[in-house]
Amino acid sequence: MRRNLIVGNWKMHGSKASIAELLGGLKQRLPASPRSELAVCPPFPYLMWAQRHLPGGVQLGAQNVAVEPKGAFTGEVAADMLVDCGCRFAIVGHSERRQLFGETDAQVAAKTQQLLTHRLTPIVCVGESLSAREANQTLAVIGDQLDALVAAIAPPDLALCVIAYEPIWAIGTGRTATPEQAQEVHAFIRSRLQSKLGADAQSMRILYGGSVKADNATTLFSQPDIDGGLIGGASLHTEEFAAICAAAE
Ligand code: PGA
Repeated sequence: MRRNLIVGNWKMHGSKASIAELLGGLKQRLPASPRSELAVCPPFPYLMWAQRHLPGGVQLGAQNVAVEPKGAFTGEVAADMLVDCGCRFAIVGHSERRQLFGETDAQVAAKTQQLLTHRLTPIVCVGESLSAREANQTLAVIGDQLDALVAAIAPPDLALCVIAYEPIWAIGTGRTATPEQAQEVHAFIRSRLQSKLGADAQSMRILYGGSVKADNATTLFSQPDIDGGLIGGASLHTEEFAAICAAAE
């Protein structure tokens, strides 16, 4: 039985004041011991600030990590620093990183390995562009992204990863994949993982991301291969995020 996971990806938003307010509001609204796993991913400078204000039962994650473990890499943040700051998760390969910062499949795999080496749970994002979907290339694109990961990460480690399916055309657009569209891709992802991992693929969480809101979360999360969500915009609003978390219970 997989435990649902809801992750708030705050992207480049927030301040000390707004984070304290958001987490304070969540503390009042979330169940004391949620059945699903919950996490938020603040920008780097606020990791420790957020940790100080986290409601019980909510874990901390980062939005990125360096490929290298340490050294002269100005502006980068190493995996062991994330551990030191209380992180349990980190997002890697978000489409914004891939598209805007030129992150390659090889870098995504190397970052994933860094996280695994430091016992952090990677949330590895995959997703197709609108043009790929319209050209019927969705599964080919997702398959290539997954294959790069599967080729680089050894099976016992691979099984510890969380995969997030985020169609690029659904991110921040208000246009969500239908539950059927999402389920089709999630089932494909699981079967692709299964060919490398066998039965262990059944225990892996596959999250959906892309315009998840309180009013579409329940139907998305009720799909058999959707094990929670990676939530952007809606994770910045107390009521909305709390309602999404409740939908995963
Ligand atoms: P969104 O973002 O929920 O605002 O669409 C999701 C994400 O980019 O992780």
